[in-house]
Amino acid sequence: MQLASTVALVALATSVVAEGFLHFDVEKRAPSTPYPRLRKRATDPIDAQIAQNTKNYQEYLINITVGTPGQQLGVTLDTGSSDLWIPSATFCNSNQCDFGSFDPSKSSTYETVDAGGFNITYAAPGDSDAGDWASDSVTLGGSQAIKNQTFGLSDAGYDVHGVMGIGFDQHETTAPNGERTYPTVVDNMVQNGLINRKAYSLYLNSYNQSYGSIVFGGVDTTKYTGDLVALPLQPGPNDEGTIEFFVTLSKVTFTDAKGASTVLTPDDYAQSVLLDSGTSYTALTNDVIDKLASGMGAVSIDDNYDMAVPCGFANTNATISYTFGGSDGPTVVVPMSETIGTSQENECVFGFGPAIGGISILGDTFLRSAYVVFDIDNAVVAIAQAAENKQATSSIVAIPTGTEIPGVSSTATASGTQLDSSAAEATPTLATASYSGHHTTSILAATPTFDLGAAISGSASSGGYGGQSGSSSNAAVPAMTGLPHAALLGAGLVVGALAL
Ligand SMILES: *[C@@H]1O[C@H](CO)[C@@H](O)[C@H](O)[C@H]1NC(C)=O
Ligand SMILES: *[C@@H]1O[C@H](CO)[C@@H](O)[C@H](O)[C@H]1NC(C)=O
Ligand SMILES: *[C@@H]1O[C@H](CO)[C@@H](O)[C@H](O)[C@H]1NC(C)=O
Ligand SMILES: *[C@@H]1O[C@H](CO)[C@@H](O)[C@H](O)[C@H]1NC(C)=O
Ligand SMILES: *[C@@H]1O[C@H](CO)[C@@H](O)[C@H](O)[C@H]1NC(C)=O
Repeated sequence: MQLASTVALVALATSVVAEGFLHFDVEKRAPSTPYPRLRKRATDPIDAQIAQNTKNYQEYLINITVGTPGQQLGVTLDTGSSDLWIPSATFCNSNQCDFGSFDPSKSSTYETVDAGGFNITYAAPGDSDAGDWASDSVTLGGSQAIKNQTFGLSDAGYDVHGVMGIGFDQHETTAPNGERTYPTVVDNMVQNGLINRKAYSLYLNSYNQSYGSIVFGGVDTTKYTGDLVALPLQPGPNDEGTIEFFVTLSKVTFTDAKGASTVLTPDDYAQSVLLDSGTSYTALTNDVIDKLASGMGAVSIDDNYDMAVPCGFANTNATISYTFGGSDGPTVVVPMSETIGTSQENECVFGFGPAIGGISILGDTFLRSAYVVFDIDNAVVAIAQAAENKQATSSIVAIPTGTEIPGVSSTATASGTQLDSSAAEATPTLATASYSGHHTTSILAATPTFDLGAAISGSASSGGYGGQSGSSSNAAVPAMTGLPHAALLGAGLVVGALAL
């Protein structure tokens, strides 16, 4: 019955769709203020753990308006979850919200759908947001409004801005009034005739750019190089079926500054990995992380295996390559500069870590270098190397109903597996940071074994946080000034759904 009505709505949609796609900017931002709730609760023992994850990571936001008249909010764009939620004005008045809040009393079209029924829990410890299930008009960037969008209105919780999950409806945390699912924003774009298929293309753009873009219902052929190759989605954990964006990662290779390659994965590697824009780093199996970390001389700076490297390493010409769907499948090459981020505390954080609860995740430190088409209707993604810093929007092609994805001519089908429970529980072997100076103000890195080129012999910084220049007489063990602090742990993974 649900299927029949969807088909009817798609038929209706094709007659109303003008262009058939919606293009929006996506803004890379670090939250502008530390999370005040965490500071307030810092004496609570649980919050020692939470506070450790009060990282000021980069994330990707989209602007939406909610209500009549519209109230503007910035929300994290998250392929790793499926619920839209926003913070209420009541919550934000007593806690600082950084990208707007919503006052239901100022909207003539607002309805509470299930009071107190909303509660979403993300992967970072303590990261839950809770309140009412609500419904109102939602608009993205001046597009035609979705008149009746269900969302969570948070009045208690951890995060200081909302999230727009754009995954499968089956991966929603819960739904109002005991239902299993409700229509996601992407579902409603199709039902309202804004796009033809539940599919969109994501282009985060390079780390040094402030804006990327997303095209709902379309592919922008100028934003990638080479061919888009389709990858059938792989089953998620716990036999949940193909309701998350897991694809098969077949090989990871490090290429040093002189062009010499080291394969970091074992033979016949076939790991299911989640493509998750809501996680800022890349979480891989220990065999890969151990080799990468020791090669880079990265050191662990906290109990969560967050790692740091000297800032100057962002200048290396070394790259890391990811091959998908079998050894002949598509490869995305990621410059190391895309993986070393300066946090708000001016730490140079190396954007990798071990799998989270057994889940391998390719987050923003991978996605910036890829152009990815996410096709929910057909449980497929298509992937290509991102073209750098492309702004034009004149070459967008609408994705029609059916199965064809514009620009895709081949499929790489090798299947992947999830980690078993013992592998999921194993911990990586990382060098731990050592400190020099008073009050742990200098972190000492380990000696890299990979050849990183001039980055290390010429410009390793001393006190070079936030900068990528300077000089040091002790190039092999450069000092990193700054307080150790966790960073870059993303919000994209819904823990509630993992427990199913
Ligand atoms: C969102 O709105 C803010 C404030 O108007 C603006 O500065 C920002 O560029 C917008 N971001 C996007 C992604 O459009
Ligand atoms: C939401 O759920 C989490 C995890 O079960 C729980 O710790 C938290 O207290 C809940 N929040 C509210 C406001 O009920
Ligand atoms: C609004 O959406 C909800 C959830 O899909 C649905 O149950 C309800 O009937 C809709 N209401 C209207 C007025 O369309
Ligand atoms: C931004 O980064 C890209 C990719 O790493 C690089 O090619 C480009 O030169 C950089 N641009 C600037 C202005 O630094
Ligand atoms: C990277 O390669 C360019 C061009 O070959 C070279 O000029 C630059 O010095 C290299 N950078 C490092 C850090 O090795």
